[in-house]
Amino acid sequence: MSGTVLIIYAHPAHQTSRVNRRMMETARDLEGVTVRDLYELYPDFHIKVKIEQALIEKHTHIVFQHPFFWYSCPSLLKEYIDLTLSYGWAYGPQGTALNGKTLLSAITTGGGADAYKRTGHNFYTVNELLQPFDQTARLCGMTYLEPFILNGSLQVNDQAIDAHCNRYRQKIIDLRNGDIGEVYQR
Ligand SMILES: Cc1cc2nc3c(=O)[nH]c(=O)nc-3n(C[C@H](O)[C@H](O)[C@H](O)COP(=O)(O)O)c2cc1C
Repeated sequence: MSGTVLIIYAHPAHQTSRVNRRMMETARDLEGVTVRDLYELYPDFHIKVKIEQALIEKHTHIVFQHPFFWYSCPSLLKEYIDLTLSYGWAYGPQGTALNGKTLLSAITTGGGADAYKRTGHNFYTVNELLQPFDQTARLCGMTYLEPFILNGSLQVNDQAIDAHCNRYRQKIIDLRNGDIGEVYQR
C-alpha cells in the first residue's frame, strides 16, 4: 500500500539529542513525508486535536519517533495519543479513521540490547514494553509494524548514528512506496 508517511516526533530535549534529531532531519525533506515536531508545536501541551486528526486522515503510514523514556514515550506523545485518538473517531462506533493504516514505533533506548532480556536489568524485551502501542494500533484497526529500534543510544559513535539514520531514511522511503516490511508478530 503506497502512500504518505506522517512522522510524529517527540523529543523534549531536541537541541541536545544526538540520534533522534538526526534521524528526523534525515527524513523530513522526503517527498510524501510530513513531520510533526510535537515539542516545537505544542510547548504548552495544548494540542490542536482537529488539525492533528486531519493530518492523520491524509496519511497512510504513521510513525511515532521518540527516545524511550521510562519504558514508554515522552509525555507529550502520550498526551497526543490521549487526545487525538478519540472515541468515535479512532475507536468505538464510527471510530474508523485509522482503519487500514500502519503504525511504526521508531525509538532509541539508552539501555543496551543485553539489558532488555530476562537476565538483563530491564528484564523485559523492548517489544514487550511496547505492547501498549501494539494494542493501541490493534484497537484502531491499524497494522503494527516491527519496531525500528536503536539500543545503546548514549554509547553509539557518529559513524553508527550515520548508518542508523541511513537505515531510517530508507525505511521511511520503503513505507511511502508501499513496502511495509515486517509486521510485528505477537
Ligand atoms: C526522562 C528519561 C527517561 C529515560 N528512560 C529510559 C528508559 O526507560 N530506558 C532506556 O533504555 N533509556 C531511557 N532513557 C535514555 C534515553 O532513551 C536516551 O537518552 C535517548 O535514547 C537518547 O536519544 P537522543 O540522542 O535522541 O537524545 C531515558 C532518558 C530520560 C531523559
